[in-house]
Amino acid sequence: ELKGETIIVVLGASGDLAKKKTFPALFGLYKEGYLPEDLSIIGYARSKLSDEEFKDRQIGHIKGPTDDASAEEKSDHDAKLKKFQEISSYISGAYDNDEGFQALTKAMEEIEGKRQSKGNGPNRIFYMALPPSVFTVVATNLKKNCYEGAKDARIVIEKPFGKDLESCREMMTALKSQWSEEETYRIDHYLGKEMVKNLLLLRFGNLWIESSWNKNFISNVQITFKEPFGTEGRGGYFDEFGIIRDVCQNHLLQTLSILTMERPVSFSAEDVKVLRCIPAIQKKDTLLGQYVASGDKPGYLDDDTVPKGSVCPTFAALTLFINNPRWEGVPFIMKAGKALNEAKVEVRIQYKDVTPGIFSDIPRNELVLRIQPDEAIYMKMNAKTPGLLTRAIPIELDLSYKRRFERAKIPEAYESLILDAFKGDHSNFVRNDELDVAWEIFTPILHWIDGKDGEAPKPEPYPYGSRGPERLDEFINEYGFKRSNTG
Ligand code: BG6
Repeated sequence: ELKGETIIVVLGASGDLAKKKTFPALFGLYKEGYLPEDLSIIGYARSKLSDEEFKDRQIGHIKGPTDDASAEEKSDHDAKLKKFQEISSYISGAYDNDEGFQALTKAMEEIEGKRQSKGNGPNRIFYMALPPSVFTVVATNLKKNCYEGAKDARIVIEKPFGKDLESCREMMTALKSQWSEEETYRIDHYLGKEMVKNLLLLRFGNLWIESSWNKNFISNVQITFKEPFGTEGRGGYFDEFGIIRDVCQNHLLQTLSILTMERPVSFSAEDVKVLRCIPAIQKKDTLLGQYVASGDKPGYLDDDTVPKGSVCPTFAALTLFINNPRWEGVPFIMKAGKALNEAKVEVRIQYKDVTPGIFSDIPRNELVLRIQPDEAIYMKMNAKTPGLLTRAIPIELDLSYKRRFERAKIPEAYESLILDAFKGDHSNFVRNDELDVAWEIFTPILHWIDGKDGEAPKPEPYPYGSRGPERLDEFINEYGFKRSNTG
């Protein structure tokens, strides 16, 4: 744990990620008293901003208390926000030369000096909310200019970690030469989501779940990510990566690994073993889509920031298999798309048919874990219709978090992960070896999609706001999914 004075430096402080996620999460933790009392925050970025301008931006996305909050809660929020800004400052500097980083060190030393060290020495956390093009150079310059003198220095980084196996290895090797594994925290924010963190407990804390968690009972699994909006101005970034690199190779694969791994000895990562049993995804197990205009909603290619004629997929359905005794033959269907009909991330486990006999035509059991919005767990099961007839009816065993845990505050994914980074707990971060395996699974189809094996495949069009390409249902059914009419 980090004791004593701590400084967190947010690099890329004027960017979107910092504004929308990092600062709100830091404030959330600060407000609840989870961060060291003598914390200081320094924003660092290229933009020339005054301290005042920075502080305005810093709190721009922080949500205030709800309207029904008491006057006391409101004034507490305001007071904490003021204090949060008081402990924050800003430095503008380049990413590719020493000068700015030396100024940063000077600023850190000033803060540390002022505080009259309590004998613990300063701790420095460097949070890189930066585009990948400057990851390596910033990590190198931080090590060179800002590391010496820190008792405990940590670096927090976030995807994209390269674009394929080779570029990821290059980046990781460069980072590793500067920062040890112990000092490095690789964020995949899905690992901070409440329902993803819940998976271990659900699986290993419930005998009936764990005992049916294998190929003997489970027919197929779907992991679905749906967003109701398109790239909306983010097309420049997105087009270079596509939906598979944006969410499948990281967020959905991490979720899959926790869903399928063997029981870990402790809460430390054990998931890399299961990933090693997944062969590279095959072309035939892939369905690609790209959204087109519908009504007043623009198509992907209508986004000015997207290159003309791009064949970048904004939707993908991919089926993965796990070659181990537990999961042999069970299809894991990942579906992810932008500009779809709703916002939803869920895992749907479909069990096999019951043996026919006295009951025919009975829908399959399904266990659904809704990651967002509104965390929920429900089980689709069958019961007798109440009354004098012995007829089956599908029902739901339904647990909605909002109803069950009325007053519980579910932390934001970034709050949970940033707190872990402060505490030095690596268990919810991505390991180096894990990244490597993850890229091995995805690199062949990505190279095919990028046109490296010849002509790039053309994604199937789907209207903005629809469920995805027309062939989707057929694709899923091929892997044994049976739709029942019960939602
Ligand atoms: C990011 C992707 O990693 O995850 C975005 O780059 C995506 O494209 C986002 O929208 C989804 O995160 P969340 O927490 O909103 O589900």
